[in-house]
Amino acid sequence: MQVEFWNERYKEQVFAYGMEANDFLQEQTFPLGSKILCLAEGEGRNGVFLAEQGHDVTCVDYSEEGVRKMAQLAEIKGVQIHPICADLNEFEFKENTWDAIVIIFGHFPEDLRKKVHGQLFKALKDGGKLVMESYHKDQVNYKTGGPMTTTLLYSEEELRSDLSTFHSLKINQTIREVHEGEFHFGNAAVIQVIGEK
Ligand SMILES: C[S@@+](CC[C@H](N)C(=O)[O-])C[C@H]1O[C@@H](n2cnc3c(N)ncnc32)[C@H](O)[C@@H]1O
Repeated sequence: MQVEFWNERYKEQVFAYGMEANDFLQEQTFPLGSKILCLAEGEGRNGVFLAEQGHDVTCVDYSEEGVRKMAQLAEIKGVQIHPICADLNEFEFKENTWDAIVIIFGHFPEDLRKKVHGQLFKALKDGGKLVMESYHKDQVNYKTGGPMTTTLLYSEEELRSDLSTFHSLKINQTIREVHEGEFHFGNAAVIQVIGEK
């Protein structure tokens, strides 16, 4: 999907995936540290939630409309975030910078997926955490949101290979109810990842 697709989706007044953070992110009870990077963060619901918890949050997305909406959501909720409009193909991951990196339903073509996932480990500080939820390839059978093509959906093997440098990697493939705005709406095949550097 191209950036124009996302700009079209986010130009509406309503928040496409709602104003509340993703359930899997909200369930995490371990400390995430101070500096958090949210990638492919769309309209900012996860980053704003983390800022409400007192974290120093940077949110990256290449959609100008998404970045406009994340600033709007932060204002509505009375918190500050650092929005960055950037294509992850060109985004510079600085080494040993982040206490946690969060990617919620960030689906990329294989080359970009490998490139982004391959830089997460070095971008985290020692002990830093990766929190990721993605749709699994089986999601093509559910049709309740996410990409409609398996090439943009992920398998456990792909993620294990991409993230093999992590000292600890927990991957949970499951079916769960996802209700997030207009576009994620029911039983879904997801992969949930917690990594530690
Ligand atoms: C399904 S949305 C998820 C948004 C957000 N993480 C959430 O959970 O609400 C996927 C996001 O990935 C972003 N995205 C896709 N490819 C990207 C790229 N190459 N660089 C930056 N953002 C990208 C899109 O703009 C879109 O906002």
